[in-house]
Amino acid sequence: MSSGTDERVFENDERIRLGIWGLGRGLSFYKMCEALNMDVVAGCDYNEHMRQRFLECNSDAFATGDAEEFLARDFDAVLLATYCPAHADDAIACLNAGKHVLSEVTAFHTMAEGVRLVEAVEKSGLVYNMAENCPFTAPNMYLKRKWEEGLFGELMYAEYEYVHEVLTLSYTYIDGTPIDPGNKPHSWRSWINYHYYNTHSLGPMMYITGLRPTRVVSLPGRQRLPGYLMKGIDGMGGVAPSLISMSNGAVIRNLMGATTNDSHIHRIWGTLGSAEQVDGELRLRLGTGGGSPKLRVQPRWEKHTSLAEGTGHHGADFWVMYFFAREILEGVPAPFDIYTACDCTLPGILGYRSQVDGGIPHVVPDFRSRQDREAFRADDSRQPRYDVERGLFPPHAEPSIARSFSETVRDLVNSTRKYRAFRDWRGIAPDIQEPSQLLGIIDEAIDALPHLQSAQQRARLIIRSCPDSDGARVLAEILELSDEEITSRPEYAQELGRDRACLLRETNASGDAEGERSQSGTSSPS
Ligand SMILES: NC(=O)c1ccc[n+]([C@@H]2O[C@H](COP(=O)([O-])OP(=O)(O)OC[C@H]3O[C@@H](n4cnc5c(N)ncnc54)[C@H](O)[C@@H]3O)[C@@H](O)[C@H]2O)c1
Repeated sequence: MSSGTDERVFENDERIRLGIWGLGRGLSFYKMCEALNMDVVAGCDYNEHMRQRFLECNSDAFATGDAEEFLARDFDAVLLATYCPAHADDAIACLNAGKHVLSEVTAFHTMAEGVRLVEAVEKSGLVYNMAENCPFTAPNMYLKRKWEEGLFGELMYAEYEYVHEVLTLSYTYIDGTPIDPGNKPHSWRSWINYHYYNTHSLGPMMYITGLRPTRVVSLPGRQRLPGYLMKGIDGMGGVAPSLISMSNGAVIRNLMGATTNDSHIHRIWGTLGSAEQVDGELRLRLGTGGGSPKLRVQPRWEKHTSLAEGTGHHGADFWVMYFFAREILEGVPAPFDIYTACDCTLPGILGYRSQVDGGIPHVVPDFRSRQDREAFRADDSRQPRYDVERGLFPPHAEPSIARSFSETVRDLVNSTRKYRAFRDWRGIAPDIQEPSQLLGIIDEAIDALPHLQSAQQRARLIIRSCPDSDGARVLAEILELSDEEITSRPEYAQELGRDRACLLRETNASGDAEGERSQSGTSSPS
């Protein structure tokens, strides 16, 4: 598959034969392989539909659902994108099969797994990288360069956020396909506490400053969004903030979570200057004072822009693959080798532990040191998991009904959100600065209504069939958000249509009034 550019990246002509294990996220990378001296020769996934999609994009490759068969093939490196809590053992299996490893985040799920993984990498002599990508956006790579030049001085404080709400992904694969069989939730996104997904926000702060975390503390946030499986401080659907001491004595806030405002705000303060990224804009405040001039800058990568642009996560995915290929071909260490991967992964595990302990700080060990590792060799404690294999329904549940759950919940969540966006914005319509924006929102609600009503009916069937199941509880919580008594009535479609017409009149009238106001404003300035 062509990268669409003839740009040459490495002088070396050596090719790396790559296998991709896990073809959901794992399929995001194949387009940039050719330019990076990589040939995708094998893919592995339990899911037939993902293997099919992989073969459509990599027609010469071998595909299987059997990991042993995959690892037994003759190739050089694995892009590992299997289930998040399985990465350590899967990476060790790859190393044992003689393959270099690029592991998706996070590197491991328990302290003991981290020890095992470090020692497996050391023993293997192979390249191991963690595929943390968020540091490699153009703004973050620019900030790193300027940080190294001394523009910002010493790190004082930073706060990076990875707030990403994933309710539908609790019941679907990453491509939106409902989990099959449909009576089971997603293998890990349905229950994992967000502390365990801490690298997208911590990684950039470490990369820019070159510092490592030394201590972490976190208080539990107990509120959970409706529709998530686990309640209380353990599960998904809540916030997971931690404070982390860094090796220069600075403190940072690392915020992860699934709540009602996805956000990736990044702010970083040094002793000489500071930077913030909000809504894709990078602003610096330079001049050593709190009120010094703050200007927007246009960050650029130093090289390979045409290759990076257009790849996933604002081009960051390209650099993950670039650093991995470069380390294999030229021996240049990548930013996230096994030890930095530990520095980045450990504060998540210990942040979770701190919140469970009610806010006790934990020292972050340095897994470069054998002595530090020794203390955690047998530490396999982990958060309680939802029993995904047992599923969301009791054994006696009618299979055809229980298995319709994952598709039903996906449709119900998606259509409910369209309805609620309309309902909640409609309630404060006079306050909206550009009232015409509400028209687009009501149009989406109108389009979604047949899907909402169908999903409501299917959800009711499941609830009646297994009223005490977790599946029924999840559906009931979302039905409540959907104002079922109002929206399930056949005449609601006409009511929405009338409301739209009314809204259009209001919008036109307010546009006229606005026009009159601005005309009178120009003719008679006060
Ligand atoms: N860096 C990023 O921006 C980013 C984005 C999305 C996902 N991820 C990471 O990528 C990983 C994969 O995520 P995903 O979104 O594809 O979700 P996922 O966890 O649903 O996908 C894992 C895929 O691997 C397959 N799989 C798992 N174990 C297997 C095995 N032993 N044998 C064969 N197939 C196996 C599953 O069938 C599934 O299709 C996760 O760890 C996630 O953290 C990273």
